[in-house]
Amino acid sequence: MMEQVLFVDACMRGDVSRTRTLCQAFLAQYTALRPQCQVLHRDLTGASLPVLTGPLTQQRDQWVREGEDSPLLAPAREVAGADLILIGAPYWDLTFPAALKVYLEWASTLGLTFAYTPEGEQVGLSRARHLIFVTTAGGPIGTLNLGYDYLKAWGAMVGISSTHCITAEQLDILGADVEAILAQAKQKTASLAARLAEKR
Ligand SMILES: Cc1cc2nc3c(=O)[nH]c(=O)nc-3n(C[C@H](O)[C@H](O)[C@H](O)COP(=O)(O)O)c2cc1C
Repeated sequence: MMEQVLFVDACMRGDVSRTRTLCQAFLAQYTALRPQCQVLHRDLTGASLPVLTGPLTQQRDQWVREGEDSPLLAPAREVAGADLILIGAPYWDLTFPAALKVYLEWASTLGLTFAYTPEGEQVGLSRARHLIFVTTAGGPIGTLNLGYDYLKAWGAMVGISSTHCITAEQLDILGADVEAILAQAKQKTASLAARLAEKR
């Protein structure tokens, strides 16, 4: 089966997003070393997924129970079938943009990305071996990398134990050498991509 790379793109400012530039550096390096892999770009900037409501959770349960398909199940199927997941999101209000949380709620579908054993133990169903989170922040993140803390736990829930985080910080501080900070982060991103590409 062809290797699948899922790029979950919550870089809400689109083409001017610095976070997206770093993600592109990751993908450029990774695909250069593994040209046979297929990249699926899940662009969340249009916020086309609805917020999960009570009725929608019931609808979703029914789709899964009856084996029906819906575009709203695509996030779960993507996460289940990916070999590597790259998530790009700016540091917004201590975590990440809401569009990413909406995506992750749809991706966390019982029966598709996680399940319970008869003993009640939760097991992850994603095929992915690695999750990489790329974020950039206006100030220092310090110990408050709450988006990444959440993504590590979420990764464990869907069965991904290897998680990595790349940050570029203090980009909006007056006098900061933004180019230098980004160049350094880009280098880190590319070397992580190379390491993961060679490891597989
Ligand atoms: C809505 C919003 C919320 C933000 N919240 C924070 C924050 O809590 N802490 C911080 O350091 N920077 C914050 N920033 C600044 C961004 O993290 C910073 O500009 C980042 O580099 C944006 O990434 P981008 O260039 O990929 O869009 C915020 C920016 C926006 C637009």
